[in-house]
Amino acid sequence: MHILHVASEVFPFSRSGGLGDVLGALPAEQARLGAEVTVLSPWYASLQGQPQAIWRGEVDGVGPAWLGEVRQEGVRYLFLGLEDFQRPGLYHPDDVWRFCRFGRAPLPVLEASGSLPDVLHGHDWQAGLVVAHAHLRGLNTVFSVHNLQYQGRWNLQEAAPWTGLPEWTFGPEGVEFFFDLNLMKAGLNFADRVTTVSPTYAQEITTRRYGEGLEGLMVRLTHEGRLSGILNGLDQERWNPRTDPEIVPFSQPTDKTGATAALRQEFGLDDAPILATVSRLADQKGMDLLIEALPELTRDWNVVVLGSGDPLLEASLTGWAQHPRVTFEHGMNEPLAHRIYAGADAFAMPSRFEPCGLSQLIAMRYGTLPVVRETGGLVDTVPHDLGFRFADATPEALAAACQDAYATFQDREEWQARAERAMSLDFSWEGPAREYLALYEALRA
Ligand code: GLC
Repeated sequence: MHILHVASEVFPFSRSGGLGDVLGALPAEQARLGAEVTVLSPWYASLQGQPQAIWRGEVDGVGPAWLGEVRQEGVRYLFLGLEDFQRPGLYHPDDVWRFCRFGRAPLPVLEASGSLPDVLHGHDWQAGLVVAHAHLRGLNTVFSVHNLQYQGRWNLQEAAPWTGLPEWTFGPEGVEFFFDLNLMKAGLNFADRVTTVSPTYAQEITTRRYGEGLEGLMVRLTHEGRLSGILNGLDQERWNPRTDPEIVPFSQPTDKTGATAALRQEFGLDDAPILATVSRLADQKGMDLLIEALPELTRDWNVVVLGSGDPLLEASLTGWAQHPRVTFEHGMNEPLAHRIYAGADAFAMPSRFEPCGLSQLIAMRYGTLPVVRETGGLVDTVPHDLGFRFADATPEALAAACQDAYATFQDREEWQARAERAMSLDFSWEGPAREYLALYEALRA
């Protein structure tokens, strides 16, 4: 079976968040299980090097394009080169336009080279239009929602001609949403099967609170048996405390005291335990709740934050960093992220919503106990009697869960037992990769 994944990021080539991590791990696991797997993604000018070009030409309605190929870990990575992607960084304000270009090109190119897949599997709104075009050409399609908040919307009257779709798709049963083109909706409406990245999020998005205006459609997809949740895995090789070159090695498989001492020294922290987070600084992640809870949290904990995003949150954290128990490191620094996951005692994720979340999986793998709000994948991955869970999206509820964690931390034996259990949990990609393969098989049958 030949599977074609389409997504806007793929680790280690391009990555801004969890989406890139998933595309860096799931395809390789499917290849290991015997499938023929291709991943198609844009070639951003900011990426290192340039892949081997295997095709150059003109695409109808798009213009000049090229296709580059890299083979790695049994997977064929195809990069589509378009003029609109010749700029710094990954995402830009005119992305609806750019991903319309990106969405139109693949089918004609693949068709010309005689390499149409058995199943096309698109991820998030940037792949919505590819899914629609693939469906209209009679291919089997799967569409995965990694984050329903970002939908790729633009005034429909202006954007309709960008899509290359037939007129009849411009209604609410197609790509229309409150007079906008909505590329997420294109994926949802035209895919044979829709998945999201945890069972709990699959339920949550059928409600007004989490549905981002698409809850009605989600209810319908559920009734039609077209929507399901498949929990993400973790790349357990990339994140392995026993072999991680970025950290002070655990002296025994479960003894992280060296890594903790190193982190304490790196940031000049006092003897209080370390509560950390590595996160996009965005409303979704509840970083404002964490900031508001800092007066309480700093009584018990050293708080270490690594991340960037919303300028207001960044400014507030920069101010807080004057406090002896608050450390704020700006940016996305992969080696430092490893040192934090390994060295911290507890890891905070006060997310307002969290489709799956990968940080809690990494934290647990390094024996760092998560403090999480009960939403989405956090519910499905953090056991009650292992981490610390809270329900309300308030600073008070977060602070109370952290107090609970602090009280448990005083019982060193109990804490160590939980840390060891956390490290022994299995979040490998094999199970989820098999679930997706079964879904594809069902479509082909
Ligand atoms: C998005 C979601 C996150 C999920 C990731 C990968 O980044 O916000 O919860 O883990 O996609 O699916």
